[in-house]
Amino acid sequence: MAEDRNVPAWVEEAWDKALEKTIRNTERIGSGFPHASVEGKYDLAEPNWWMAGFWPGMLWLLYAESCDERLKTVAEQCEERLDGVLDEYTRLDHDIGFMWTLTSLASWKLLGNEVSRKRALKAANFLAARFNLAGRYIRAWNPWSENDQNAGFAIIDCSMNTPLLYWASEASGDPRYRHIAEAHMDTVVQHFVRADGSVYHIVDFDPWTGERRGGIGGQGFAAESAWSRGTAWALYGLTLSYHHTGKQAYLDAAKRVAHFFIANLPEDSVPHWDFRLPPEIVKYRDSSAGAIAASGLLLLAEKVGPLEDHLYRGPAERILESLYRNYGAWDNAEEEGLVTHGTSHYPEGRNIDVPLIYGDYYFVEGLARLKGTRTIFWE
Ligand code: GLY
Repeated sequence: MAEDRNVPAWVEEAWDKALEKTIRNTERIGSGFPHASVEGKYDLAEPNWWMAGFWPGMLWLLYAESCDERLKTVAEQCEERLDGVLDEYTRLDHDIGFMWTLTSLASWKLLGNEVSRKRALKAANFLAARFNLAGRYIRAWNPWSENDQNAGFAIIDCSMNTPLLYWASEASGDPRYRHIAEAHMDTVVQHFVRADGSVYHIVDFDPWTGERRGGIGGQGFAAESAWSRGTAWALYGLTLSYHHTGKQAYLDAAKRVAHFFIANLPEDSVPHWDFRLPPEIVKYRDSSAGAIAASGLLLLAEKVGPLEDHLYRGPAERILESLYRNYGAWDNAEEEGLVTHGTSHYPEGRNIDVPLIYGDYYFVEGLARLKGTRTIFWE
């Protein structure tokens, strides 16, 4: 699957180490759904959790190059386990795109499995059904408790879910999915991306009238701060929307967000969990934000002309190389995570300064891009 190109030695080294460690991890994790590595072992979440696609997605990326059957077998088992979640649809939030792009859509793209194609289309239907016509946004979450009023919440993370909708329009010949994806991303450009390229995590709309009520801090430090993983979701999601639609507004917004992200990186190129923290708050890193942004920046570099591509490719390579050299747990057999120092949810005190499965996934995806792999599941 890889193109013939000059791949830096460190990329091949990192790839081999990621492959070796992941094959070892399949023995304990199997078709579980890892999230954060606590004291060296990945905790295994319920299959309805948003991150259920990242482990099988990473297995598929590594399988595409290595053709190691052990990876394929486990990835297929994970996909089958998700059927229960798809059937019992009441537990599905907007994260449907994260979950089925990296499982069923990956399997369809790599192996042409018809059952997987149908699962991905079914998932796209559930995602499309979350669209709020008045506010032109995809609703983020279902109510978590009886009196929860979150019908008006849309979140920046959902920018990464729209590729499932673009694909569904192509696969079915029905433009409705794409209309919804574009309407949501237009809302992102209008209501989430600030003039300086930073973004809101959550925006609350009146679900009946569609009126914007305000921004909410969510996983960032505060409403007006700049959560780094949210910034990375915006950067990558906007670039993917440009890839799928060719709309200039998405490219312009993606560049604005990319410039903000790059300008705020610390010396080792791996972001803190929020770019706007008061001095008394500990500046933990979020390596996952770095990995997500790096893969997005590599796509952005492909989309702009030859005068600009170095602006995005250079920082992407620096982030990935720093993650490999300074954050990788390659020689630590007691640590299942590939990339250390991720922060999942600082405001709720959850999983701070630990390996996260999405950090591992996007690190491997970034390497796959540097190796010239053409099958990137969001595209
Ligand atoms: N809410 C998904 C994330 O933690 O990025």
